[in-house]
Amino acid sequence: MSVLKITGGRSLSGSLRVQGAKNSALPLLAASVMTEGLSVFRNCPHLTDVEATVAILRHVGCRVYEEGDALYVDASGPISPEVPDALMRRMRSSVIFLGALLGRCGEAVLSLPGGCELGPRPVDLHLLALRTLGAEVEVSGGRLCCRAAGLKGGHIVLPSVSVGATENAVLAAVRATGSTVITGAAREPEIADLQEYLRACGALVTGAGSGVIRVQGVKKLRGAEKRVMPDRIAAATYLAACASAGGRVRLYDVCPAHMVPVLQALERMGCGVTAGENLIALERRGALRSPGPIITRPYPGFPTDAQPPLMAASLKADGVTVMIETIFESRYRHVPALRGMGADIRAAGKTAVIRGVDALHGTEVLASDLRGGAALAVAALSAEGETVIRGMEHVDRGYEDMAGALSALGAEAVLEHEGDADDG
Ligand code: EPU
Repeated sequence: MSVLKITGGRSLSGSLRVQGAKNSALPLLAASVMTEGLSVFRNCPHLTDVEATVAILRHVGCRVYEEGDALYVDASGPISPEVPDALMRRMRSSVIFLGALLGRCGEAVLSLPGGCELGPRPVDLHLLALRTLGAEVEVSGGRLCCRAAGLKGGHIVLPSVSVGATENAVLAAVRATGSTVITGAAREPEIADLQEYLRACGALVTGAGSGVIRVQGVKKLRGAEKRVMPDRIAAATYLAACASAGGRVRLYDVCPAHMVPVLQALERMGCGVTAGENLIALERRGALRSPGPIITRPYPGFPTDAQPPLMAASLKADGVTVMIETIFESRYRHVPALRGMGADIRAAGKTAVIRGVDALHGTEVLASDLRGGAALAVAALSAEGETVIRGMEHVDRGYEDMAGALSALGAEAVLEHEGDADDG
């Protein structure tokens, strides 16, 4: 089990290069299985979720290797359509292999991702998209079997916004015959990043980033080179860390245009935020005030993944902060641990009400999930004394060396390994 120990009270200063985006790298890697060639991914973050994706790629027949800062995926050999349960369970987003394997092999056999720490995670929208293109889907004993003798383009209407279902729809449509229109598509920048890679591979996709995506199917895709976009949630987390601790940080290799609602919330809290082409500087000298109500929404709204770190930064802000979580059912699991540190938070259903307190105190806490764990680290930076955060395996899924990043910014943060981790 890895444990992060943070001694609060030091303000942050310095520069940090922000990692490549987890939520772009995972679909990009899955998409590479559809090409019959070699793809090169640069700026791919070193995360356990990426390792889990690489394990799936290797299992289905890709050759994957690292050289310098690049990850190579060679999908030119035969590809198996089956992913065993043990590999699927390592990561919820492995469901993205559904569209990719179906597109490549005409078949995909994998287990259902099931629920996770954020609440139920249905796949009905993913299946609706694939069925619209002619796939037959059978679900039995937790295994999902999708087959299509030949996928045919169609009009996919997504009744509610889903990032993963949009990605699966795009992947399957790329290899379908004829044209596909996806309406109700998620507009997240990670989908535009996926489109950029697919186009470099020879796919005919337009409209990613808007609610309507158009795809003209092609017979074959070649491998391509792609630089993974910057991680807007990691960037939001380190900005929230500086808001919490005080001081001044500069983040580079970021895309401020992807982060507008987060930057606006930090400004409303009293932070000075300056954005350049690939950088963001944040300064916090005085006391923080409440950012006002924060309602999570699909992009371009306030991202659900940034809600926990921002909540942690508002614990000592003057006034009352109301947060309304509209994307996931269980996204307040970090609240009891924050309360244990002295925070005044009432959470019920979709709403959390935070009243600013004068002080937080370090204690032992357990990370409940990836972003909830990050929130504990953000809170710990402004707590008195030492906070011991257990369960950092959750955080390692999405943050590249968080202890190193915080230390580089002047925080007193040390990662320790206790006993042997055996949670697979
Ligand atoms: N949903 C359905 N049916 C479906 C699919 C989704 O009802 O078939 C619901 C979900 O239960 C949820 C909502 O739709 O209530 C949105 O889910 P979405 O499908 O958009 O989420 P996702 O694709 O599973 C990605 C990110 C998440 C991020 C969400 C929302 C990846 C790998 N994951 O998940 O990232 O929170 O979009 O922006 O891209 C994280 O990084 O911490 C994380 C959880």
